[in-house]
Amino acid sequence: MDLNFNPDLFRFLVFRLLFGVRCRVSGVRNTKWGAETYLFLNTETLVIVICYLEFPIIQRSNTPYCNGETQPMTNKQHVFENLLALDGKIAIITGAASGIGRATAKLLADAGTTVALIDINESDGKDVTAKINDAGGKAKFFHCNVISDIDCKSVIEEIHNEFGRIDILFNNAGVIHRKRIDELEEAEWDLVIDVSLKAIFLLSRYAIPIMVEGGGGSIINTGSCWGLKGGPQAAAYCAAKGGVVNVSRAMAIDHGRQGIRVNCVCPGDIDTPLLRGEAIELGIDAGVFMKAAAERPINRVGTPEDVAKAVLFLASDLSTWVTGSTIVVDGGGIA
Ligand SMILES: NC(=O)c1ccc[n+]([C@@H]2O[C@H](COP(=O)([O-])OP(=O)(O)OC[C@H]3O[C@@H](n4cnc5c(N)ncnc54)[C@H](O)[C@@H]3O)[C@@H](O)[C@H]2O)c1
Repeated sequence: MDLNFNPDLFRFLVFRLLFGVRCRVSGVRNTKWGAETYLFLNTETLVIVICYLEFPIIQRSNTPYCNGETQPMTNKQHVFENLLALDGKIAIITGAASGIGRATAKLLADAGTTVALIDINESDGKDVTAKINDAGGKAKFFHCNVISDIDCKSVIEEIHNEFGRIDILFNNAGVIHRKRIDELEEAEWDLVIDVSLKAIFLLSRYAIPIMVEGGGGSIINTGSCWGLKGGPQAAAYCAAKGGVVNVSRAMAIDHGRQGIRVNCVCPGDIDTPLLRGEAIELGIDAGVFMKAAAERPINRVGTPEDVAKAVLFLASDLSTWVTGSTIVVDGGGIA
């Protein structure tokens, strides 16, 4: 049981007890007033008993109660069961078959979310989904190419029909080409822009009315440190991620009054197939590439879980006053 000492009430009761003792003493001395003193002392005792029952000197904590619980919550429970818990929420995660999306799907499921995993990689997507369900979470895989309007419309409809609501949308799928603008093919430029940036538009426009219907939600878009500064041989990627950062701000302004928060998470050098693929495309030895990537204040390459934790913060009620913001998760790389 969670008990708090109430000093004010303690002082009040001590005062009344001492006052009663003083009356008792004067009552003994002054037998003339014996009957009156007797009545007074009994009234005094009654007041103390009522005070004790009404305002127990040892009070229960006044932190909020869990839904349907008869026991009060501790402050610690309040953090973990109210602010961080996402029980009953429905989250959509794109690029969920690998890297950051995969780690986030697992973490959000651990926090109680029902997770809709979206990817074009069906086998890996189904594998993560099975792992989440085997571990006691709730997850379902949906095949969807996020650059296709038809796919995005139908996947949002399917998820809405299946789960009845959408609370969290993590627009995370992304691809990179490590090429200068004069090296890029038009199709490469289009792919990078479409998967990272256009997909946010396609999915959000179908998800937002459903979020509004459900009372609001949280949209998190994956940008990059290269959306905040330029990087070498990544012209399309820098263009796309710069767009992600600013479209997140625009969406936050437009949809705040509808109860939807929109934020951008900007990772830097996270150990995923995407990062390792860059070394291959640039023709650099993977060991050398990863060693260079680790050169930053926190002396290592990031993990997908590092980013997932920032997404959990943005998805949860720990961030109710955070919208239109950009959270850099890069071990201090661009500090
Ligand atoms: N890894 C890093 O260092 C790093 C740094 C900054 C930003 N990011 C961003 O983080 C996000 C996730 O990247 P990651 O590192 O986890 O990469 P990843 O390659 O491990 O995962 C990307 C996922 O997106 C999926 N995907 C690609 N195209 C898709 C499409 N058209 N439709 C549906 N799914 C598609 C892939 O199948 C894959 O599962 C990307 O937006 C990326 O740009 C990554």
